[in-house]
Amino acid sequence: MPHAPAVTEPAGPAPLRAKRGSRLVGEATVPGDKSISHRALMIGALAVGETRIEGLLEGEDVLNTGRALEKLGVEVGRTGPGAWRVHGVGIGGLTEPSDVLDFGNAGTGARLMMGVLAGHAFTSIMTGDASLRRRPMNRVIEPLREVGARFVTREGGRLPLAMVGAANPIPIRYRLPVASAQVKSAVLFAGLSAPGETIVIEPEPSRDHTELMLRHFGARVEVRAGEGKGEHAIVLGGQPELEARHIRVPGDISSAAFPLAAALLVPGSEVTLRNVGINPLRTGLLDTLGEMGATISMETSGRTGAEPVADLRVRASALKGVHVPAERAPRMIDEYPILAALAACAEGTSRFDGLAELRVKESDRLAAIANGLKACGVAVEELKDGLIIEGRGRPPAGGGMIEAKLDHRIAMAFLVLGLVTVQPVVVDDGSPIATSFPDFVLLMTRLGASIEPA
Ligand code: S3P
Repeated sequence: MPHAPAVTEPAGPAPLRAKRGSRLVGEATVPGDKSISHRALMIGALAVGETRIEGLLEGEDVLNTGRALEKLGVEVGRTGPGAWRVHGVGIGGLTEPSDVLDFGNAGTGARLMMGVLAGHAFTSIMTGDASLRRRPMNRVIEPLREVGARFVTREGGRLPLAMVGAANPIPIRYRLPVASAQVKSAVLFAGLSAPGETIVIEPEPSRDHTELMLRHFGARVEVRAGEGKGEHAIVLGGQPELEARHIRVPGDISSAAFPLAAALLVPGSEVTLRNVGINPLRTGLLDTLGEMGATISMETSGRTGAEPVADLRVRASALKGVHVPAERAPRMIDEYPILAALAACAEGTSRFDGLAELRVKESDRLAAIANGLKACGVAVEELKDGLIIEGRGRPPAGGGMIEAKLDHRIAMAFLVLGLVTVQPVVVDDGSPIATSFPDFVLLMTRLGASIEPA
């Protein structure tokens, strides 16, 4: 990636402080969707011809996917801000990397690439940062072994690992034990190299960016409802010819959630977030905020490729506590840290259920949220797979030092909370924010927020 933005390795932890200040006003465009950006690079690499991407997230997670693809023999180049070109090599056309593939903080990068590599008969060695090396990989390794790939991992299926892709990948029918778009996508990517139909059955629908993008590139992907009670099956026709396409990546609703929440909390705020992806499998937070009494209007502005987008206009609102049922979790799985900050300021008790998966995200998010809220003077109960948060209808005391635990969303959620707490909130390390939202502090301060180095 000769034209990639210069990457400066963070010299060490970069503490940030957020404090009460002026209201947030204005318009902003959040960075490109992280899930779609990873997929655009990978599917572009497996297509034949040159894929042009606009609005790619230039966060560390996605840049690491680009670097990994380069090591696998794909030409990936930057032509301008957010504008990238990928010279696809076709399915099966990747070549053995001569060095370790390092996915940094990115579970999506590592797991999806394992699926891509499961159908390439060579050896790859993968690693990541301290957070990623703790995260479970068996959920992808198990189905990919059925496809025919071989793995040697650390205890418990952790990175670093070595894998050898299958010379003759087998199309599988796989029932996901948990709703996970990463596992679903890894199996579908492996299925691209296999003859016949690969079938993934989900207990609950999870984000479908892989299915939509594969179709956009010419693959046959069907959804069959009713394979089992409440389940649905995704069926991929194997060995398609993927044709290079043009992709416009919508803004990431999971990043938009932070300025949106800040505007809800800080009295007098009014903010418009432009061109946000509103794929219905990602908008659980908007449903939940509606139930809490938030004033958010959506002006649909069409589609970019297969993905719906809209401008979101949000005004400061008095919020009430909410019960978020377990079934909604897959549609807002990354939004619980910021929802917890909102619940801490709302009137009444909030309860979030069915969140065992949060224990294996970039950090143990249930613990990180509970510890952070306690440090800010909020009454919170950490359940095995959920949270109960007591909101008092006014901002909590704050004043805490928050441990970000290498987790971008924990860092951003508590910085947003610090915009309304009585005392400022300090996050011990803001550097992980660069994985998904490199200009977070700039965007927030332009809207009026007070966030600065501590
Ligand atoms: C993602 C899926 C989700 C989500 C992650 C991105 C994806 O993970 O938490 O941030 O791009 O497929 P799971 O598949 O583990 O639920």
